[in-house]
Amino acid sequence: MELSTQKLIHTFGALADLGQEIAGRGDFTEMVRTSMHLLLGTLALRRGAVAECVESELRSVASWGVTDQIFKELSISCEEKQEFHTGQVSDFLISSSPGSSNFVNRYRQKFAQEEIALILPMIVRDEITGVVLLGRKASGEEFSPDDFETVHAMVRHIGVGIHTHRLLEQVAERAEENRRLYEELRTIYRATVRSFAAAIDAKDKYTQGHSERVGRYSEIIAREMGWSEDEVEGIQIAGYLHDVGKLVVDRDIINAPYNINAKESSELNRHPAAGYEILAPINHPYADIPLMAKYHHERLDGRGYPEGLRDEQIPIGAKIVSLADSFDAMTTDRPYRRRRSFEDVVRDLRENSGTQFDGKVVAAFARALLKEVKGESKERRITKMLGKDYLQDENVAMLLADLITDLTAVGSAARSYK
Ligand SMILES: [Fe+2]
Repeated sequence: MELSTQKLIHTFGALADLGQEIAGRGDFTEMVRTSMHLLLGTLALRRGAVAECVESELRSVASWGVTDQIFKELSISCEEKQEFHTGQVSDFLISSSPGSSNFVNRYRQKFAQEEIALILPMIVRDEITGVVLLGRKASGEEFSPDDFETVHAMVRHIGVGIHTHRLLEQVAERAEENRRLYEELRTIYRATVRSFAAAIDAKDKYTQGHSERVGRYSEIIAREMGWSEDEVEGIQIAGYLHDVGKLVVDRDIINAPYNINAKESSELNRHPAAGYEILAPINHPYADIPLMAKYHHERLDGRGYPEGLRDEQIPIGAKIVSLADSFDAMTTDRPYRRRRSFEDVVRDLRENSGTQFDGKVVAAFARALLKEVKGESKERRITKMLGKDYLQDENVAMLLADLITDLTAVGSAARSYK
């Protein structure tokens, strides 16, 4: 095989290696360093360096046999960058007599001291990405026209690599900025939701903090059911907002200290559908929040409202909010009645599982509470919401354990309305 053919194959192989190196997802500096070594190896050069242009500065990215000191002394003006676009190779050869490159002429002596023989710009999309400094060939020969072509091709590859890296950095910066903005929006959204919840509760003087607690109970149940963090956050929001429709219901009806009549009751029962109307046009970061509000008074047996949906027609999120809502109603005092005992509440949950509540949801809630009672969970969030005196009964753990067993037993379907 002829020497020139061998050289061509060698160069071609080096370019392929270089392409792979540049396209790889590895460390940027390592990529430039390996690329430079490939370049030096292909032409058997003694030394070389790759520097990035950052405004008027040249920053060393990789160097071999060239001291970093030289880069501290180099700067390049806009006009000098322009020279690279129009200059000839001979302008950038240190050994030739002063050419038209002001940049090379300015530092010719310094380059000679460092035994730099050739300066090559990396131009990508008409922009100077940086420069490559190359030393002499180990053989002492001058650069041949073939060498120049090889060097040009490889330098262009490295330039594209650096350019791509910069683009990726910009994309990463943008992505980070977007993430931060998105996080800010979510924070604003959450704060808005909480003030909404406070506004809802303020309208109903007997149910202070109800929406907030329903949000928290819903979140605890969903987490116990193995939902993802995003879904858990979504249902918490749904809990906070489940009664938002009450904002359009007459305050006197909401606050009536007596059993309301049929007309008043139908007015009050408008609130889930009204809530849906309020929430549906909002672009929530979580799915189904309007539907959870709309269906939080539906029952598995179809006797709920507003649509009388049955079991599998009711979204699971609405079933969770429904239980959280009822549990909070049973365990807080109202002006016309005291809250019910825990034993009584457990009885209610057992009796109404399969007709009003979904047994799986009730079981999940009972499991979460049992973990707290047994001291198995880090925080005692449900216990705190119920107040320290509420779960004093030593039977609490047993009541919960029995409820869980009953609801998860094979025969539990027998209690279903179906
Ligand atoms: Fe409600």
